[in-house]
Amino acid sequence: MTQRLNSPEKAGELLALRRLVAFPTETVFGLGAIATDDETLRRLFAAKGRPSDNPLIVHLASLEQWPQAARELPESARLLMDAFSPGPLTVVLPKHPAISRLATASLDTVAVRIPACEVTRRVLRTAAVPIAAPSANRSGRPSCTTWQSVWEDMEGRIDAVLCENVQAIGLESTVVDCTGEYPLLLRPGAISLAQLQGVVAETLAAVQTSALTNSPGLRHPHYRPVACLKLVRPPGDGDDVVESDLSQVAYCGLSEHRAKDRFKLHRRYATVEDYAQNFYEFLRESDRLFASEIWCEEVVAEGLGFALADRLQRAAGLK
Ligand code: TXA
Ligand code: MG
Repeated sequence: MTQRLNSPEKAGELLALRRLVAFPTETVFGLGAIATDDETLRRLFAAKGRPSDNPLIVHLASLEQWPQAARELPESARLLMDAFSPGPLTVVLPKHPAISRLATASLDTVAVRIPACEVTRRVLRTAAVPIAAPSANRSGRPSCTTWQSVWEDMEGRIDAVLCENVQAIGLESTVVDCTGEYPLLLRPGAISLAQLQGVVAETLAAVQTSALTNSPGLRHPHYRPVACLKLVRPPGDGDDVVESDLSQVAYCGLSEHRAKDRFKLHRRYATVEDYAQNFYEFLRESDRLFASEIWCEEVVAEGLGFALADRLQRAAGLK
């Protein structure tokens, strides 16, 4: 049975007792397990249906805790963490032997993040041990930005959910590999390449092929709704939906569609930030309504739009 919790401290206590507990963060919900315990990690991979070659992010309550997860802190990582941690930044570091090989999919490196969200910090401070936490969705599904969506995916499969919704960015953290000569951006997020380069000028964006070897998780399908997702241009005067039946189509984007009343669901977001924040929940809502198609407006790949464009393409199966 899955317990509903309302206390972050209780969530932290259960994590320390080797339970699987989902909790909110400032990016998306995470599903936590002690990062040093093989048995709990096996249960976590099974609960998510996650392939064992996809490594997890280890979450810490504070920067001082890094020696519990990593063997060393390369200079580039120190600079980036001083600038952006706590926050939506994950750095890949040389792995400490105490971290289970299951958490890192047998890599010699470990991904580390220190969340900024106060609720998450209370959970992690109480647990007081490194907590491996992938996003709290069933593997391949859109990430969860509400506890209700976590419940939908995970009820009966995990021990507890911390039922608190927080103001979140809505996209997963920026992942940067700091084990090489230069930092390498593996997954775009709220902290942009330009911001990273403002701190370590040599930071590079991984081209897709090297990202695949550096970040095995990117091989697998991600963020997929059940309905078929199409990326569309912002609607202009010339679009030809006049004759189409839109009654089974869910639409979202920055524009208001001329035919908005004919869609099954129509959501217009005021800003890219707003779009990012609501994107995963929109996909889930479309599936709950059994929409047959989802049309998402493309965004300009700048700043947070770069990360959102990445998720849009993955959700559409284009990456
Ligand atoms: O915002 C987030 O990062 C959320 C919250 C819960 O913190 N977590 C999250 O975890 O998105 P997950 O498991 O959905 O994504 C982890 C990503 C994957 O792309 C994985 O391949 C990469 O981090 N990763 C983990 N360990 C790695 C490592 N040692 N080297 C390279 N990439 C790694
Ligand atoms: Mg995920």
